[in-house]
Amino acid sequence: MEEEILSGAVGPLLCWYREHRRDLPWRKERTFYSVLLSELMLQQTRVEAVKERYTRFLERFPTVESLAAASEDEVLKNWEGLGYYSRARNLHKAAKIIAERGEPRTWVGVRALPGVGDYTAGAISSIALGLKEPAVDGNVLRILTRLLADGRNIDESTAKKHFSDLLRKVYPPETADFTEALMELGAIVCVPNGPPMCGACPWESCCKAHLAGREGEFPVREKKKPRRRETLDVFIFRAGDRYALRKRGAGLLNGLWEFPNSPAGGEIPCGKVLEKKCAKHIFTHVEWQMTGYLIEAEEDPQYIWATASEIRERFAIPSAFKAFMEWIK
Ligand code: ADE
Repeated sequence: MEEEILSGAVGPLLCWYREHRRDLPWRKERTFYSVLLSELMLQQTRVEAVKERYTRFLERFPTVESLAAASEDEVLKNWEGLGYYSRARNLHKAAKIIAERGEPRTWVGVRALPGVGDYTAGAISSIALGLKEPAVDGNVLRILTRLLADGRNIDESTAKKHFSDLLRKVYPPETADFTEALMELGAIVCVPNGPPMCGACPWESCCKAHLAGREGEFPVREKKKPRRRETLDVFIFRAGDRYALRKRGAGLLNGLWEFPNSPAGGEIPCGKVLEKKCAKHIFTHVEWQMTGYLIEAEEDPQYIWATASEIRERFAIPSAFKAFMEWIK
């Protein structure tokens, strides 16, 4: 029954997609490398933010070989502001693997690349390699649970497998378009926030949730855990025209450069405090509530000291510290 409904929904979705798809830069060219890049950039990041960065990155590293040959710092610098920097490191590692061994040809081969999980492996396999492999994320779970009025909890680990198996049975030969059409419907019609625009949906006449007037009841989810809140004091030490930086260790934002900081409530280091301001940054599972201090200091060899232009050009500083960059002059 489910398979029949889904199978009947494939044609209308493809027709709708061909007419209404957004003109996105990564939909023009579908080489393995360009699809790998766009899919890694699109992990956890909005389409709007990726659009311009994708093109710029490809101009800077036009081939997988050029990326493989770059230094990690250069790659991170070109990822600056996009966040979740492990993606950049994984992309760099994947480029080296591909430059050495060639492109994978199977889902398993794609999935084995660093930074590629089930969703991304499905997206790359179907978009770049023409394989009938689905990419099931929250957007796809939403449109399918509505189409089928399926009340299973989508936070259960088995939900993705269930819908992946179902999709695999109905994949048309136009694998790239079908994968992108599923994503597109979830992004612009059956939207994540707010009510779906059922009047514009190719599934309006077959969507079980819509026909029953129950769109709002799907998908069914477990209650989310609230984000952990961390409070930090951030110290922007200035000695002459140089500022103190240090490299982050293991964990969140590993290996990026940062201003010295410590959990809030500790001592404020000695030196004249010139400025003070509060800022907040939200990560997926953590929220940082920061108090920043601009402090006149002596050069301390435990840090790297860099001028404003060196910091802007050579050091990848996480967006979390952006609020304090106005002090770096
Ligand atoms: N999100 C993840 N992959 C995407 C793609 N190829 N197009 C649009 N949004 C996406």
